Amino acid sequence: MTAGTLPALYGEDFATDPGRHYERLRRQGPLTRVEIAPGAEAVLVTDYQAALDVLRDTHTFSKDPRPWPDTIPEDSPVRSVLGYRPAVAFSDGDTHARYRKVIGDSLGLLGPHLLQTQVADAAAALIGRFAAAGRADLVTGYARQLPLRVFNTWFGVPDAQGEALADRLATMFASGADARAATADLTGIIGGLVAERRTRPRRDLTSYFVQHPAGLDDAETIMQIAVTFSGGYEFTANLIANTLLHMLADPRYDGSVYAGAMTAHEAINEVLWRNPPQSTSSGYYVRYDTTFHGVGLRAGQLVLVSYAAANGQSSPGGETDAWGASESAHLAWSAGPHSCPARQPALLIAISAVEQLTSRLCDMRLATPAADLRWRPGPFQRSLTTLPVHFTPWAPKAPPPPDE
Ligand code: HEM
Repeated sequence: MTAGTLPALYGEDFATDPGRHYERLRRQGPLTRVEIAPGAEAVLVTDYQAALDVLRDTHTFSKDPRPWPDTIPEDSPVRSVLGYRPAVAFSDGDTHARYRKVIGDSLGLLGPHLLQTQVADAAAALIGRFAAAGRADLVTGYARQLPLRVFNTWFGVPDAQGEALADRLATMFASGADARAATADLTGIIGGLVAERRTRPRRDLTSYFVQHPAGLDDAETIMQIAVTFSGGYEFTANLIANTLLHMLADPRYDGSVYAGAMTAHEAINEVLWRNPPQSTSSGYYVRYDTTFHGVGLRAGQLVLVSYAAANGQSSPGGETDAWGASESAHLAWSAGPHSCPARQPALLIAISAVEQLTSRLCDMRLATPAADLRWRPGPFQRSLTTLPVHFTPWAPKAPPPPDE
């Protein structure tokens, strides 16, 4: 098979029902060749055990694409996710450990209590905007807005630039024609922020990254912030939206969210198994010619792990399965040295965001049948475009905070 005739991981058909595509790919073996954008080929891992082995085996797989010929077309939109940068997701060994320490130490300075308060304040302000209308789009009005407010506060991004950042991030992950321009804009905005904090540090994550004893240079600082902000914001927004859809569409609840019927944590756990916000990994590169799970791989070949397909193969199912017991076995946070370093804050934001909304608007119902909802295209994320709901109009007791 040549590129163009390979199974496509992009386009409307894939976005509408990726599960059907994953099933078909799994029948072809644990690893199979796919096209991730026109003319861009990769080997996709769909088997759970093979996925774990790629993620953990740093001897066979590297994250750094530079030693090998570049096979992604120059103008391909997936370059915005796969193109090399001096960042944590493109490095191995000591370099990776150095970048990851800056991120981990900085995130560690965020206290859970303060975070809880930030989420509660953001939720109250956002719900206050639409509660009286009796209808809302939970993607644009809530799931994408809430983590944006939190991330802007963390990194000290002025409100006016925050919206632009969110827009550029969404464009980058949709992997369309304008993805590269979006990535350049993003780097420009963060570059301005880093330059400002070098001269005038404040109490925010950007300043912590700049001042960390690891002494990252400007390009390194900008890239670690870009990876942390982009992955963190985008996937937390997807997690909130996918969880709200799961609760609203679940037949056990007759299409409405009554507080207590399903806890936010349970719903999130099921979404992490069935509909992970980051559906496919960033790049892994084969270090030498080898046979892996019975499949021949060449040195330098691009390998991607489908977290969604691997989860689908081994997710708990059936009437009697206890989701809680297998809570940590899904790959939604990845595994191995590059697994997500921010599970705790991400879960705290998502659980709290879902609880704040469902406890206030507990008779919310989908305004569009779940099967008709549209998903943003692109191989890397699982992201709704809209989530329209209606509910009994509700007037918040306290007036919205001053910034409203
Ligand atoms: C507070 C929010 C978040 C932050 C700050 C954050 C940050 C990061 C960072 C810095 C990495 C790169 C780690 C490395 O390469 O060593 C990463 C990886 C990852 N994160 Fe998160 N993240 C957040 C939320 C999420 C959410 C909600 C999900 C989805 C459930 C998620 C899934 C992942 C996955 C799958 C990876 C591996 C990426 C890859 O395949 O290359 N993250 N995260």
